Amino acid sequence: MNFLEQKILADGVVKPGNVLKVDSFLNHQIDIRLMQKIGEEFKRRFADVQFNKVLTIEASGIAIAAFIAYLNDVPVVFAKKGQTVNSTDDKYVAKAYSFTHKKFNDIFVSRPYLKPTDKILIVDDFLADGEASKALIDLVKQAGAELVGVGIAIEKGMQPGGAKLRAAGVRLESIAIVDSMDPETGFIKFREQ
Ligand code: G4P
Ligand code: NA
Ligand code: NA
Repeated sequence: MNFLEQKILADGVVKPGNVLKVDSFLNHQIDIRLMQKIGEEFKRRFADVQFNKVLTIEASGIAIAAFIAYLNDVPVVFAKKGQTVNSTDDKYVAKAYSFTHKKFNDIFVSRPYLKPTDKILIVDDFLADGEASKALIDLVKQAGAELVGVGIAIEKGMQPGGAKLRAAGVRLESIAIVDSMDPETGFIKFREQ
């Protein structure tokens, strides 16, 4: 079992409705040493690819993105959620359905921060239905940039996001993949990788 799987077993809470609460180290309070280890793990797994920018989505993705960006000395760009107001001339906009909030969000990045010359590594905290990743990939395509991979801290293997990305030929690395979990007993089964 790797360090993140151990942390999930120790401090994650399985909730009804297929939700894994990780507020004590990722989604509310942030364990910075754990974020550093996640960054180091991404650095190791993506050692064979070149990227000049890390792309994520606010809010929780930012902490995940920070260390891999630091280790490769590149900036983090985070897509913003919510109102895009009138003109979209100055920004790339994509739609993402939020599993947690049960609604569509527009996400956007201002044009100066995604360029056709960019080689982009996308990272995020969770991969579930893959809506957030799909929208981020859409932004990369709109900018004419190159996607080199997607790095995820926790993939929920019982939801279709991971399978969809792999089927699309995306280079996907998930540090922990939860294949099943039981809110009654708290049991969590991880995929062997
Ligand atoms: P996606 O990331 O694969 O598109 O997943 P989905 O649309 O289903 O999830 C949307 C939001 O819900 C994301 O956070 C995602 O991280 C979170 N999420 C999905 N499943 C779980 C889960 O089991 N546990 C936890 N803790 N989060 C989950 P968000 O709405 O973008 O919020 P933020 O935390 O980044 O601010
Ligand atoms: Na989240
Ligand atoms: Na997220």
